Amino acid sequence: MPFLQVLPDQQTVPIAPGQSILQANLIAGIPHVHACGGQARCSTCRVVVLQGLENCLPRNAAEQELADKLNLPAEVRLACQTCVQGDVALRRPIVDALDLAMARQEVEAPGQRLGEAGWPFSSPTSKTTRHSPRRCRPTTSSTS
Ligand code: FES
Repeated sequence: MPFLQVLPDQQTVPIAPGQSILQANLIAGIPHVHACGGQARCSTCRVVVLQGLENCLPRNAAEQELADKLNLPAEVRLACQTCVQGDVALRRPIVDALDLAMARQEVEAPGQRLGEAGWPFSSPTSKTTRHSPRRCRPTTSSTS
């Protein structure tokens, strides 16, 4: 049975024949983002294949359509659509809410600035929140 080396989780995950990378990671308990539920619509499950791209099966039609739309390079694959036939090392680039918002923006609102279309960072609370600018002070050395 092939294995996935998953970063940044630093886990080794078994993957069964016919199982997608997303399915294998979820079964292993990895919190792999998959906003569209594995329908090849959101790209939030994307992974960067670091080693073993030759062990990934070719893109299916659904993955190819989204890859063409987003101009994804060959080593960026949709985990929900990708099955493997040998060991693969990969990195999940979407690991927090900001990553997720930016990935969704690429697909759902290309050309808009983050926060313009009701994204998580444009809530009424965040618009009224003021942060004091952080000031960096030069370190002073005591000569006494
Ligand atoms: S989960 Fe949406 S494209 Fe894979």
